[in-house]
Amino acid sequence: MTADRVIARGTVARPDGAEPADVVIAGGRIVDIVEPGAGRGAEIIEARDLLVLPGGVDAHVHFLIGFMGQRSVYDFHSGTVAALRGGNTSVIDFALQRRGRSMMDGLKHRRVQADRHVACDYGLHLIATDVNATTLAEVPALVAAGAATFKVYTVYEKEQLKVEDGPLHDLMRALGKAGGTIGLHAENASLIDHAIARHLAAGETAPRFHASSRPALAETEAVSRGLLLAEDAGCPLHIFHLNSAPALALIEAAQARGQRASAETCIHYLALTAERYDGADGHLFVMSPPLRDPATQARMWDGVARGSLGAVTSDDASYSAEAKALGAASFDRIANGVPGVEARLPVMYTLGVEQGRLTLPQFVEAWSAGPARLFGLGAEKGRIVPGADADLVVIDPHARRRMAVDSHYGAIGYNPYEGMELAGWPVATLLRGEVVVRDGAFLGRAGQGRFLVRHGPPR
Ligand code: URP
Ligand code: ZN
Repeated sequence: MTADRVIARGTVARPDGAEPADVVIAGGRIVDIVEPGAGRGAEIIEARDLLVLPGGVDAHVHFLIGFMGQRSVYDFHSGTVAALRGGNTSVIDFALQRRGRSMMDGLKHRRVQADRHVACDYGLHLIATDVNATTLAEVPALVAAGAATFKVYTVYEKEQLKVEDGPLHDLMRALGKAGGTIGLHAENASLIDHAIARHLAAGETAPRFHASSRPALAETEAVSRGLLLAEDAGCPLHIFHLNSAPALALIEAAQARGQRASAETCIHYLALTAERYDGADGHLFVMSPPLRDPATQARMWDGVARGSLGAVTSDDASYSAEAKALGAASFDRIANGVPGVEARLPVMYTLGVEQGRLTLPQFVEAWSAGPARLFGLGAEKGRIVPGADADLVVIDPHARRRMAVDSHYGAIGYNPYEGMELAGWPVATLLRGEVVVRDGAFLGRAGQGRFLVRHGPPR
């Protein structure tokens, strides 16, 4: 068989090491890894002096989202093009169950919004907002349909997202039986609402009060509760966007006891700290949980290096600078979230590998292999081995670029990483063997991404 393509003479980086090799691709899959220069195929992509990584798996993005009265800049097309430009070949977005409606309708509706538009492969976590006997009966079918992870919010009642502990526990039991995983946005609503009310009553409306109203305690309590409920229910637990040292210690202790518990942190927590809230543009950095102090940041890097944080995600939520400014007069009205799907690679590579916080294999694990395994994609995604999808990104570890407002694909009007000098930019992104981005230019088409049917962890 003649191979379609060979990525030649690059350094192939995997979670178990890095070595010079040729990656041989045919029929959308990796078919062989051979000595540098030994690969034969119709097209040779020269990768001397470059790194070859598994395509990124960003397991937490919010494209085409409306939240707190604002809409994201990215829809499923532009968001997935941005993802590919950032070296990601798979993303996991969210399907929202609206209160009073079926969960399955939420999944079907989201697939209609996405399927014909996506440029990279994508999966969906199901956001459950209304848990009752009827909707619980849908859980096995949802897991079978590939939405094996659910997200539950323990906050945001005003946005009609919050689920109380009783129904959450029921959902965990149903998911545990069906072979799914519960994921939590874990913050204590009562502590936070109380603190917000106190700040507002005192006229304290600046962005910095967003951080003080959502302390690590609020996160830690909700993680602790989630662990207890999930363990009792026999359900694997994942904590989304974790940014609290005591909460991470709880996750690590649970993992050491053998509880099926995982967590992710996000690039903004690894790159930015709470002093950002004090700037004139502090409103741009409002997300939940909030940015914290340098010690918390160092602990998050430590968790990524140890692997207790199994993934680093972007939690991409691309509200424009204008949209964020609409709420700037009072911190509780600022649309929560920051963009990052395109920044994840250079931020992780530069601050992680180049600055010595992660080894190259640890970086590959958190970038791609870890999230692929955690979220049921481990056979085909996140691996550079024969038989896996040829989802690859070739990066230049030496080229440096300064992040600017217009570094991302979308007209978002700000960039949380503006001014940072970063390395590790993608030169080419391959989706199932096809070069879909070359030097930042999108060469693919809408709808080329596939829906990823994800199954739960082995039982
Ligand atoms: O502030 C955040 N994280 N915004 C996005 C929505 C979510 O909670 O994931
Ligand atoms: Zn969340």
